[in-house]
Amino acid sequence: MSKRIFVSATNTNIGKTYTSTLLVGALSRMGLRVGVYKPIETGVTAIAPDGNTLFQAALSFNPELASLTLNDIVTLQLPLPAAPFIANEGKKIDLSFFDAALAKIEALCDVVIIEGAGGLMVPIDDDRMMIDLPRHFHAVTLLVTHCNLGCINDTLLSINALETAALPYVWGLNCRSEDTDFEIVSLPYFNHRFENIYRIEKDIDAIAKALLDTISSTNEERLCNT
Ligand code: GTP
Ligand code: MG
Repeated sequence: MSKRIFVSATNTNIGKTYTSTLLVGALSRMGLRVGVYKPIETGVTAIAPDGNTLFQAALSFNPELASLTLNDIVTLQLPLPAAPFIANEGKKIDLSFFDAALAKIEALCDVVIIEGAGGLMVPIDDDRMMIDLPRHFHAVTLLVTHCNLGCINDTLLSINALETAALPYVWGLNCRSEDTDFEIVSLPYFNHRFENIYRIEKDIDAIAKALLDTISSTNEERLCNT
C-alpha cells in the first residue's frame, strides 16, 4: 500500500516547506526512496518556489526523480498569492487530475510527502477545503504548528479539525530562534496536555518514525475494513 504524508500547518508561512525538506532527509536516511508533491501552489509567477525547493531536496537523495519535471511536482500553478478558491476563480477542481500526477511520482519512490497550501481550512473550490485532500489521498497528516504567542489556540483548533474529520495525524512545533518566550508562555500548557511533544528540527527522525508507524496502522485498518 502507498505511503503518503500530507504536510499541513496552522496557517501559511509556518514552515510546511521547511519541515518537508527536513522530512525528505530523515526518511531518506531510513533507507526509503522519497518523492515530493505539491498539488496546488499559488503565487507562482515564474518557477514555483515551494515545488522547486521540495523537488531539489528530494532529487539530492533520490536521483530517479530526475525523469520528472517541476510541472509533474506542482500540478496546479496559479499566479495570485491567495487561497486556491480565489486564485483559481472558484473553478471546480477535478481531484483525479491529482491522482494521476501522484501515481507518476509514486512509481519512483517508496514514500511521498505532499505539501498542502496554507492551513487546513483553506478553500480549494466550492465543495472542498484543504483538509479534504489528506482524506482523498489516504495520507497521514503532519501538522506543523508555530511557537509564537497564540500557538496554543492555533494548534488546538487544527488538531480539533483533524480529530473531528477522523484523520490520522502527527503534529510538531516549528520553533524559531526569535520565539524566546515560548518556554514560559506556551510550553507549560502543551506539557500539561500532551504526553509527547515533537519539535520539528530536533525530533525530525522521531517524527518520521511516528509518521511511518501511523501509516502502517492506518493501512492495516483500511485492509481490515475492505
Ligand atoms: P506557505 O507554503 O507559503 O504557506 O509557507 P510554509 O508553511 O511552507 O512556510 P515555509 O516553510 O516556506 O517557511 C516560511 C519562512 O520561514 C521561510 O522563509 C523559511 O525559510 C522560514 N522558516 C521556516 N521554518 C524556519 C525555522 O525553523 N527557522 C528559521 N530560521 N526559519 C524558518
Ligand atoms: Mg510552503
